[in-house]
Amino acid sequence: MAQTKPLLRALAGETLPTPPIWMMRQAGRYLPEYRATRAEAGDFLSLCYNPDLATEVTLQPIRRYGFDGAILFADILLVPQALGADLWFVTGEGPRLSTITDSAGLAALRPAADIHETLGPIYQTLRNLSGALPPEVALIGFAGAPWTVATYMIAGRGTKDQGPAHALKSQDRATFEGLIDLVTDATIEYLSAQIDAGAEVVKLFDSWAGSLGAADFEAYALGPANRIIAALKERHPDTPVIAFPRGAGAAYEGFARATGADCVALDDGVSPEWAARHVQPDGCVQGNLASSHMVTGGDALVSETRRIVEALSGGPHIFNLGHGITPDADPDNVQRMIDAVRNDQEPASS
Ligand code: CP3
Repeated sequence: MAQTKPLLRALAGETLPTPPIWMMRQAGRYLPEYRATRAEAGDFLSLCYNPDLATEVTLQPIRRYGFDGAILFADILLVPQALGADLWFVTGEGPRLSTITDSAGLAALRPAADIHETLGPIYQTLRNLSGALPPEVALIGFAGAPWTVATYMIAGRGTKDQGPAHALKSQDRATFEGLIDLVTDATIEYLSAQIDAGAEVVKLFDSWAGSLGAADFEAYALGPANRIIAALKERHPDTPVIAFPRGAGAAYEGFARATGADCVALDDGVSPEWAARHVQPDGCVQGNLASSHMVTGGDALVSETRRIVEALSGGPHIFNLGHGITPDADPDNVQRMIDAVRNDQEPASS
């Protein structure tokens, strides 16, 4: 079916005169209207599991900025919770989970097919959004990639170097791989159900892919992404998939080909000129303005935005940040970025 939404056209491989735009973490604490709805919900998890309020915060950045994509409001750590892990958020610090440290811990988790009861409200949010979005805006579902999700399940929290997950991988490879397989199966179930509920594109967040050495990257970032995308393509051949192996560096080259992803999301560790030569020939790329520009603003924000648009103008491109926008960002800088993408299409040199 021919696509009319700009985001879906780019994902189908079209080179558009102006790239579609959305932002990772576009619904979040930098927006006063988000903070108000979150206060109404009480806490972050209650917000995720309340379809009316989650629908509302998903729509807030669409109303304010007119982005081309609306990303479901939820979190990658809802999957561990649906598998039976305890999950809570400590204000100002981040997530905490019960830990998986041995085969008994792994065996105590639920089977992948049993996640839907917990995640029902998330599917309801997607059904709400399907009927509420402006016609040109695409609905994006998402999940964490198995390695990134496993790093939180093993450590019980975010870590700088993913040390506990690396340790389990070398000390008890069977348990580690069993956990990767379980999360892979659950992710297939989860994303498939999101598509059934109305997601038009899904994104796989592998935020910690960059901490895997070359052989491990192949086994635990590329391999599971390949398995998830193959299973989704079998069930939903027309739904595009964006893969985000953050920190992949040189391994960004060939990632789309090896996994079947329709689009690779770039972090700001690679230059857009390099990506144009090495990644974009395989299809759509997304990215990759450093999110710090949303805090600092100024001329550098505009010139870097234009540089990225220009460098990636020869192929399919979705404009985005290199990582999520941070709570200290200035909402006016987001508008400046959008204006620089949409209103200044002439190359700097002409
Ligand atoms: O992008 C979006 O707007 C959609 C919603 C979304 C959230 N988290 C909401 C959220 C998405 C796609 C995520 C993904 C996510 N969650 C990732 C992968 C992407 C990345 O940033 O690397 C990871 C690693 C998580 C786990 C997570 N959730 C952490 C480590 C934290 C705490 C850090 C923080 O920013 O507070 C969260 C909380 C979280 N997830 C918030 C939001 C809006 C802030 C919660 C709050 O309102 O207090």
